[in-house]
Amino acid sequence: MKTAVVFYSWSGHTRARAEARAQKENAELFEIKDAQRPGTLKAYTAGCFAAMRMKRTPTQPFTAPLGEYDRIIVMAPVWAGHPAPAINTVFDALPSGKEVVVVMVSGGGRSGCRGKVQALVESKGCILAGYEDVRG
Ligand SMILES: Cc1cc2nc3c(=O)[nH]c(=O)nc-3n(C[C@H](O)[C@H](O)[C@H](O)COP(=O)(O)O)c2cc1C
Repeated sequence: MKTAVVFYSWSGHTRARAEARAQKENAELFEIKDAQRPGTLKAYTAGCFAAMRMKRTPTQPFTAPLGEYDRIIVMAPVWAGHPAPAINTVFDALPSGKEVVVVMVSGGGRSGCRGKVQALVESKGCILAGYEDVRG
């Protein structure tokens, strides 16, 4: 089974976990980046506002060939109880029929994001094959 790990990280915790996960799973690693990385004030204001409304924010072009993979592990930080908005571009790009595992990395380790990401994943015709809440 061919696996991809796709992640967003603002301050590095999710990146470290995604790198370790990709190595453990023998998976390809892809990163989605902001078009322009927000500073702290913008992350906690506009960033959280966008996260809570599950809005898309401008990202660099996301060109990972996700169609080539059977299983896609999506890893992202929690902002204001929701996935950090940049990762919504990755959910949008999921090809239908994939097994998707979502790992939410947060300060508290209990994000309450499961239902939200399950709806996103299923809206793309994919199966939420796993969900993990971890402390960053
Ligand atoms: C803008 C912002 C909002 C956050 N909101 C939450 C939150 O609602 N709940 C929580 O447990 N942690 C929250 N955190 C903490 C991050 O989820 C946590 O530090 C995570 O590990 C950061 O991942 P990263 O280093 O890959 O960006 C927030 C952090 C930021 C920057």
